[in-house]
Amino acid sequence: MDTGGFYKRSIKERRKIIEEAMGVNYAKTKETDLEAANIMIENVVATTRLPVGIATNFVVNGREILIPMAIEETSVVAAASNAAKIARASGGFKAEASEPIMDGQIQFLNADKETEKTIREHEKELLSFLDEQSPSMKKRGGGARRIETHWSGPYLVAHLLYDVRDSMGANTVNAACEALSEKLEELTGKKTGLCILTNLCLHRTVKASATFPKSVLGEETINAILKAYDFAEKDVYRCCTNNKGIMNGIDAVAIATGNDWRALEAGAHFYASLSGRHEPLAKYEVNEKGDLVGTIELPLAVGIVGGSIKLNPVAQANLKVLGVKSARELAEVMACVGLANNFAALKALATEGINRGHMRLHARTIAIQAGAKESEMDEVAKKLVESKNIKADNARKILESIRGKHRK
Ligand code: MEV
Repeated sequence: MDTGGFYKRSIKERRKIIEEAMGVNYAKTKETDLEAANIMIENVVATTRLPVGIATNFVVNGREILIPMAIEETSVVAAASNAAKIARASGGFKAEASEPIMDGQIQFLNADKETEKTIREHEKELLSFLDEQSPSMKKRGGGARRIETHWSGPYLVAHLLYDVRDSMGANTVNAACEALSEKLEELTGKKTGLCILTNLCLHRTVKASATFPKSVLGEETINAILKAYDFAEKDVYRCCTNNKGIMNGIDAVAIATGNDWRALEAGAHFYASLSGRHEPLAKYEVNEKGDLVGTIELPLAVGIVGGSIKLNPVAQANLKVLGVKSARELAEVMACVGLANNFAALKALATEGINRGHMRLHARTIAIQAGAKESEMDEVAKKLVESKNIKADNARKILESIRGKHRK
């Protein structure tokens, strides 16, 4: 959503904009309290907080969308918003997620070829058995879809493909695998070992793309971005950092919405190396008009319902601000943010360098720490950057001189 200089507004004004646009009042949103935290994990003594910032300018599949991001790192929210502003000049982002199919593994310890055949012959009844165990999932349109097998060394592995609808689905698929393993032992007379989902959920992927117009970027910048992308294609050290920048955006939305970002990290980085070579998760090319087209594809197992989300009022508020109606839609938005952050990082690195932007934002933090009010912050920050001495002492001096000038 183009909110017209959201970054220049006070927190109070930003909250008002969000309330008017999405009906969410952050001022009245309770944070996860100790009681809820004590239900989420063990041995609780405290909770910790991260800033939640709103990325603006995003249009995803034709819909204006405000994107809450929870992250401690400066520049990430601004970078996503800047990239989205450039992409919206050509209609914004397009994204499509697959059906929400999770993949659970059951390891056999002493199987043979006959075991595999038996599983195949009984697949239908095994799937029905699983659906009978979870009628509510079936009612929501989800449920057990397929059982596939493969051999990993001495182990036959059964893969249960399970549509988890709007949940992340870890608990659902793990429980289904455990129930299935008992049935499989009965059926085959063989012993099973581990039952657990795989985070390499190749059946739950999302693709997104955006066009960054030449009219906005200019040919020189496009060529510089292509060289920066090519560097990540050819150099694994660079590729690792490139993909980290993508996950900056994706994780920030995952955390804001109460999702398991470690699962996303595990899946994304392995997906990047599926070909045997570690590759950038986002690709770039120039179209016939000379515009830069970015595309991204990765697995994203995320949910909009589930225990920990229910216990986290800020996550619920953030989901309401996003306005996503399904887990698939959330995954689509997240892939767009990942692409936006990658584009912004490549653009900054290939042109002015990353530090200048970081320094501007860092200077604002120092200005506030030195006692600047919100109305004084930008002026102090600007002078700090100009002086090339972004330190608290200097900020205090600048602040005094600004206040002195205004008193005169
Ligand atoms: C920093 O958190 C992320 C970047 O290093 C990503 C990149 O280098 O592409 C800026």
